[in-house]
Amino acid sequence: MKTRELVSNVGVKLPQDLVQCWEKMILTFARLEPEEKGSRISRAHVLFRVLEREADYVKGLWESFTQERGKLTKNLLTAKREAVAYTLGFHLANAARFQMVLNRVGAANLESLCQNDEKNSSFELYDVGAGSGAMAQTFLSFIRNHRISTLRSGRIFLLDISAPLLDMAAFGVEYLGGRHEIVKKKGRIEEISLRIEESSTTKIFLLGYIWNEMSKNKAARSLLLDCLKRLAETHQDVLLVVAEPALQDLSRQTMEFRDVICHLGFQPIYPCPAGADCPMLDRTRDWCYGEFAWDRPVIQQKIDRVLGINRFTVGSSAFMFATPHMVQRISNKGQKSTSQQKEIGVVVGKPLRKTRRDGAFDYLVCTESGLIKEAPKKGAVVRLRGEKI
Ligand SMILES: C[S@@+](CC[C@H](N)C(=O)[O-])C[C@H]1O[C@@H](n2cnc3c(N)ncnc32)[C@H](O)[C@@H]1O
Repeated sequence: MKTRELVSNVGVKLPQDLVQCWEKMILTFARLEPEEKGSRISRAHVLFRVLEREADYVKGLWESFTQERGKLTKNLLTAKREAVAYTLGFHLANAARFQMVLNRVGAANLESLCQNDEKNSSFELYDVGAGSGAMAQTFLSFIRNHRISTLRSGRIFLLDISAPLLDMAAFGVEYLGGRHEIVKKKGRIEEISLRIEESSTTKIFLLGYIWNEMSKNKAARSLLLDCLKRLAETHQDVLLVVAEPALQDLSRQTMEFRDVICHLGFQPIYPCPAGADCPMLDRTRDWCYGEFAWDRPVIQQKIDRVLGINRFTVGSSAFMFATPHMVQRISNKGQKSTSQQKEIGVVVGKPLRKTRRDGAFDYLVCTESGLIKEAPKKGAVVRLRGEKI
């Protein structure tokens, strides 16, 4: 069996625990008016009022994200109010993007990947540039909701420059419950030691929307790469997730980063069907990202209105990798039953046909042997980028 045989093609609905966790974070850390603290008005109503109050901050952050991303960390997120605005505007969307990756990889695959040879079900999770902890919390919620038996109790390392964000992230992790120990590390990646002890414990390494932000921070990037290199060389069990915006220039940098990670010795699990250099990098006007339909909570629809966007479909240039012996566990498991399977393909584009009549398109499909074009089957549901075909 190949890794992506269990990749599912369904939209994303965030689990209840994750949405409630986010609500609780906002209600605990936002400055509430006295009458909002009592139980006479509903939680949803208080959230709407907080959003109305913080709308300008949230919009300001959105502009920084889309227009001058490099300056984001320098200017923002260190004050409590901005930390709440960030969490209000972006936390759930980032959680949904990671949820998409986890859904597509599938709980069964994740469980097998982390079937540690020493039957050690403890793990260490490193959320680097954790922000409000969307990545860590989504992962923890997923393994709990899917009862992943190979990942039971973890040490959760949350690393960030921003103390208010770290407090919110840790609060959320604690709120979600589980037998986890939380370690907060406040500081810059380039200043705090990222030396990870060699052990049989599974390591989960999460890099959510941080690689591009560090494009001008050579010290942090090189330290991070050293750390990943050491993890790959020591043949430990390491699951690595990189998520970045789906915008062309940022996405292309992420695809290049993906190649570097593969050269360090990691194997891609999602979305790439093969470990070869990314073939999409040769296509100058195209780039690789995943997209999904998001069944947004009501408050998210309101947040989107504030931002002047509509995130019922969402994109993310997101990748999951693992060290090769972990991937082998999945391949070994499925070989008996599915040796006749057709080559796996993942949709990476939808180029219009030359005639362009009625918006006719082909799928551009990434396969183990490179890019191919495939005509959509008549009457079939249209596949989104990042879905298997
Ligand atoms: C765009 S936010 C992403 C937050 C979170 N990972 C997510 O997925 O929602 C980037 C985070 O990286 C942190 N950050 C940026 N540069 C950093 C550095 N050099 N060291 C540690 N954290 C950093 C920022 O404080 C911010 O919280």
